[in-house]
Amino acid sequence: MMNKYSLLALSLVFTLTAAALAPINWNDYNMDANGTSFYNGQACEIKNNVFGWDRLQNPDGSYFTTSKRPIVIVIDSWKSSKVNAYIAQYLLELMGYRTQVVSRFQYIFGPELYSNVVDLEMEIWTGDFTNYAKITQYDRVGVDLGATGYNGVAGMMFPSYLLDQYPEYSLEFWKFLLNPKFRSIFPPSGSGPYVTVDGAPICDNTPGTCVNNTYIPSHCRSKDANCIEMLYWDPGYSNNVYQRLIDGLKLPITINFVGDAAKDIVNEALKQKKPILFYGWTPTVFLATNNFTRILFPSTNATEYVNFTNGES
Ligand SMILES: *[C@@H]1O[C@H](CO)[C@@H](O)[C@H](O)[C@H]1NC(C)=O
Ligand SMILES: *[C@@H]1O[C@H](CO)[C@@H](O)[C@H](O)[C@H]1NC(C)=O
Ligand SMILES: *[C@@H]1O[C@H](CO)[C@@H](O)[C@H](O)[C@H]1NC(C)=O
Ligand SMILES: *[C@@H]1O[C@H](CO)[C@@H](O)[C@H](O)[C@H]1NC(C)=O
Ligand SMILES: *[C@@H]1O[C@H](CO)[C@@H](O)[C@H](O)[C@H]1NC(C)=O
Repeated sequence: MMNKYSLLALSLVFTLTAAALAPINWNDYNMDANGTSFYNGQACEIKNNVFGWDRLQNPDGSYFTTSKRPIVIVIDSWKSSKVNAYIAQYLLELMGYRTQVVSRFQYIFGPELYSNVVDLEMEIWTGDFTNYAKITQYDRVGVDLGATGYNGVAGMMFPSYLLDQYPEYSLEFWKFLLNPKFRSIFPPSGSGPYVTVDGAPICDNTPGTCVNNTYIPSHCRSKDANCIEMLYWDPGYSNNVYQRLIDGLKLPITINFVGDAAKDIVNEALKQKKPILFYGWTPTVFLATNNFTRILFPSTNATEYVNFTNGES
């Protein structure tokens, strides 16, 4: 299951035509084009460009790549998305192509591909987009080009000093969670802070995902369940994946959504060398500069997945 979290570049294979296109109303497709100016990175002067792509000529002498319509690249709000997009912009411009960089209004993936208004998306977190398989495998409006150079890995994490504090507990492997004594080193359910934004919970009213900032599986609702608490950023990260993992493996874990406060809370625990369990992901500066251990989960169990291969369900 965990290896589904690779970071992927997704591209729409699109026949670039020289024909002038009608102006696009980007807003209709959840895209912001900054008026008509776009969000392109600053022009990058390329000296000694001897690769030759920009010199390829059409029979009439015009330049082949330059004569195509601009290639549209989408950026999301975070830094690595922009870095990847701007590198793609410069490489394409090096080849003589024109580019237009647009930005998403809302973090929804798909409309721009189904409507053919975007050509390249350089960073996609598959866990964030439940319709990813539909887009790439069934409707095939996008083609997965593979990793952009690094793979994202999400998981349940804790500070590695706990391995030294509790060497007998096998904290690296998920089954320790089923042992009430071992898991009790972590804060019990309901012990963490309750975080609001403008007086309202971060997430609410979505049973199965989050109610009043928490996910509490049915097996954690009895008084003697002895469930522990996992801190989580936003329920939109790895949307519903951990809730279903908790349900499926009957993990005695509840989730406390605290938004960006999660980082401060984990940092505070680190200072005091306290136990803490949280959802985290790499690559991030936070994970790179702290010593955390990710809990390992079983990989595919052939018995449980047999019905997906024999066509019965
Ligand atoms: C948006 O467009 C304006 C010109 O209309 C430009 O000056 C500005 O740099 C653009 N913003 C970004 C973030 O690219
Ligand atoms: C991380 O923590 C573990 C357990 O304390 C320790 O063995 C390891 O050396 C640490 N690694 C780094 C890079 O500090
Ligand atoms: C939401 O949770 C907080 C903290 O536990 C609690 O104080 C509040 O009453 C809850 N709100 C509702 C509507 O249950
Ligand atoms: C695989 O799943 C089956 C059915 O849930 C279970 O009986 C079996 O113990 C599992 N195997 C492993 C190695 O976890
Ligand atoms: C697979 O499907 C059969 C028939 O619907 C069902 O009896 C069985 O429990 C399923 N197996 C698993 C592991 O879900």
